[in-house]
Order: sequence, then structure tokens, then C-alpha cells
Amino acid sequence: MSGVLITLEGIEGSGKSTQMAILADKFSKHKLSYLCSREPGGTQLGGELRSLLLKPHPSGEKWRPDAELLLFYADRAQHLEIIIRPALAAGNVVLLDRFEDSTRAYQGAQGVPEKTLTALRQIVLKELRPDLTLLLDADPAKTLERVNVRNCEEAGFAETRFDQEGLDFHKSVRKGFLKIASDEPDRVRVIRADENIEEVAKNVWSAVASKLRAAGFL
Ligand SMILES: Nc1ncnc2c1ncn2[C@@H]1O[C@H](COP(=O)(O)OP(=O)(O)OP(=O)(O)O)[C@@H](O)[C@H]1O
Ligand SMILES: [Mg+2]
Repeated sequence: MSGVLITLEGIEGSGKSTQMAILADKFSKHKLSYLCSREPGGTQLGGELRSLLLKPHPSGEKWRPDAELLLFYADRAQHLEIIIRPALAAGNVVLLDRFEDSTRAYQGAQGVPEKTLTALRQIVLKELRPDLTLLLDADPAKTLERVNVRNCEEAGFAETRFDQEGLDFHKSVRKGFLKIASDEPDRVRVIRADENIEEVAKNVWSAVASKLRAAGFL
């Protein structure tokens, strides 16, 4: 039996981590075996890459877009081999907070050519694609405001590097995500993320439940 891969995607503050926690709760209530993970940083070594990627360096030096792309892919290759593929092979539902679409949207917005992104996907993911992707979509002006509140409330929240980019950058990331959704409507479900948390959770669960029913998990 093979598992089901479900990914949560969207710009900063769209509510991925919030919805992941609610979804994990639902899974536990339904006694479904699942595994939650995130990118970057789903493995021990990946956690070190996460810090390198998301914490601004004290020197002010920034990763060049292609260097950054390769680090994200180093994290993903490790994560796929030691966590994701084995969990799927064992028949689990795997829930991921960000995956390959984030790379396409963010590194795409930084000018990495589409053919480079596709070539790396081919090398690392091979045939693997999420069975379902939930794209939490909202205006970045709104989600970045949420991020500011969160970061002030969680003193020491240090993963702010992409948060520091301007609104135009986030608009272009959002556009990238929406393009993926329109190119792959069977895989990607766009969910309005500017509604209240419970309403978003209801829509997330409805999409997840129908995928799980189709796959014989519910
Ligand atoms: N639908 C919502 N309405 C209002 N506030 C929300 C909603 N969803 C999440 N939040 C709040 O917004 C903040 C950001 O949410 P969250 O951390 O889940 O976003 P994220 O997509 O995981 O962000 P990041 O990309 O930075 O990890 C949190 O403080 C969360 O409580
Ligand atoms: Mg998050």
C-alpha cells in the first residue's frame, strides 16, 4: 500500500503552520496514521540548512539565488530519502508545510529560470508529486501584517529573511503560486486564506477528506 502526500503552500503568514496543526488534530481524531513535516528543515541536517537559509547572516552577506536554490534542494533531497519516501512506502499520509511549489514560487520570483527549476525537480523528485496541494491564498499586505504580529508576540522569532522582502516581491510570489494552481488544477486546490481560521480549516478539511476517501483512507 502506498501513502498519500499532501502539501500546504502559500506566502508568509497565509496560515500554513496554523492549518497544519488543526489538520494533525483531525487526523488523530480519525485515528489516521500520518506524519507531519516541513521544508526546509524536515531532517536533523536539514534543520541546520533551515537556519542558514532563513536567518539573516550577521555579516549582511546574502545567498545568491542559484546558491539558495541548491541549498533548498539539498534539504529536499535529504528529506525525501530519509523521511518522505519511506513514510509513503509504509502507507502513511504525509503532511508537508511547504514543498516544491514554494521553490518554484520564491526562487522563480527571484529570477531563477523555469527550466532550471524543472531540471532540479526531475533530478530530485523524479516522478513523485503531491497527491493534493492546498494553496492558502490571500493578499500579502494582509498576511505580512499577521506575520508582524506573530513575530512580535513570539519574541526571538528569527526566521524573518523572506519577511523582510518588499510587498512587490510577495505579490510576485503569490502570482507564481497562482500560476502553478492554474497549470495543475487537478492537484492544487486554492483556498481563501483571508477568512477566519475556523472557516479556512473547514475548507482545508473538506479538500483533504475527499482526497482521503478517494484513496481509501477514510
Ligand atoms: N485565517 C486567519 N485569520 C487570522 N489570523 C490568522 C489566520 N491564519 C493564521 N493566522 C495567524 O497569522 C499568523 C501567521 O500564521 P502562520 O504562522 O500559520 O502562517 P504561515 O503560513 O505558517 O507563515 P510562514 O510562511 O511565515 O511560516 C499567526 O499568528 C496565526 O495565528
Ligand atoms: Mg509557518
